[in-house]
Amino acid sequence: MNELIIVKPDDMHLHLREGAILKYACKDTAKQFGRAIVMPNLKVPITTVNLAEKYYQDIKKVISNSNFEPLMTLFFSGSLNNDEIKKVSDSKVVHGIKLYPSGVTTNSDNGIDTIEKCFNIFELMQEHEVPLLIHGESNDKAVDIFDREKVFIDKHLSEINSEFPDLRIVFEHISTKDAVDFVVGTNNKICATITPQHLLLDRNDLLSDGIKPHHYCLPILKRSEDRLAIIEAAVSGSQKFFLGTDSAPHFRHQKESSCGCAGIYSAAYAMELYTSIFESENALDKLENFSSKFGADFYKLPYSKSKIKLIKKEFRIPAKITIENEEIIPLFAGETLSWQLSEI
Ligand code: NCD
Ligand code: ZN
Repeated sequence: MNELIIVKPDDMHLHLREGAILKYACKDTAKQFGRAIVMPNLKVPITTVNLAEKYYQDIKKVISNSNFEPLMTLFFSGSLNNDEIKKVSDSKVVHGIKLYPSGVTTNSDNGIDTIEKCFNIFELMQEHEVPLLIHGESNDKAVDIFDREKVFIDKHLSEINSEFPDLRIVFEHISTKDAVDFVVGTNNKICATITPQHLLLDRNDLLSDGIKPHHYCLPILKRSEDRLAIIEAAVSGSQKFFLGTDSAPHFRHQKESSCGCAGIYSAAYAMELYTSIFESENALDKLENFSSKFGADFYKLPYSKSKIKLIKKEFRIPAKITIENEEIIPLFAGETLSWQLSEI
């Protein structure tokens, strides 16, 4: 196959940031995706529908020449009440609420300390049919960083699912075989997003032959067995698994530092990366559902009426992206892929 035309994909997990970076991040995503679930972990988190509507307008303003549609989310806070959740449910702009255990990742200090205290809010979300998006890692510093996802499943996620069986949940950026097995074994209310880095890399790519700060993200890359289980899930054709890049730009100096930031930038070449992976698994026929349909089904959105074209042509990811006076090093910088996004 030398050419692939598919329904325009949706990125169901994206960080667009604010300030100078916003315009560039939006432009990169809009070339590849028609819509994206926009994460609310700004420096001042997006905790209300009013703030989400303002952020939505900021995004629309910087990308006014495109049909790109940001799908907004709220940052889960303990002060969410029935009125606000009803507002989310009625909103055309906000599509879910993202829960970060406090301190688990970039800009999550205002997250949740005690999950059990949120059960009344989960109840309201279930009632109003508002999806819960979860960064599923334990924030217990005593838990080994490689075990935090598994501990979160065992301590919290299983219980949330059994207490609230009708609550729609996205288990974000799964990174372990445990997470794949858990999602496969639950009812059809739990789905998971899969990033390019968790399909392409394992912890050796991060930590052996020198530390690679540009491969540092959270959840941290795991073992090769985990990566293989995630690949199998992505190409399985199961509607429980769909695309979410978790593209999260940080400037080069913030990552190449004595205390480097977590987050990998993949937005600009995401479909080239996913297509290359699906091709090497002989699963190009599964790419469209994974990229353009299963996520929309979960969020109860219509499929895009636009299409994108990918052609089989060698393509080199640039070594860096320059934004004003700063640099971002994208995922697989300088590497050659066999597929390229093309004009339709
Ligand atoms: C994300 C970020 O930088 O906002 N970082 C990351 O490593 N994935 C936050 C997140 O999704 O964990
Ligand atoms: Zn993220």
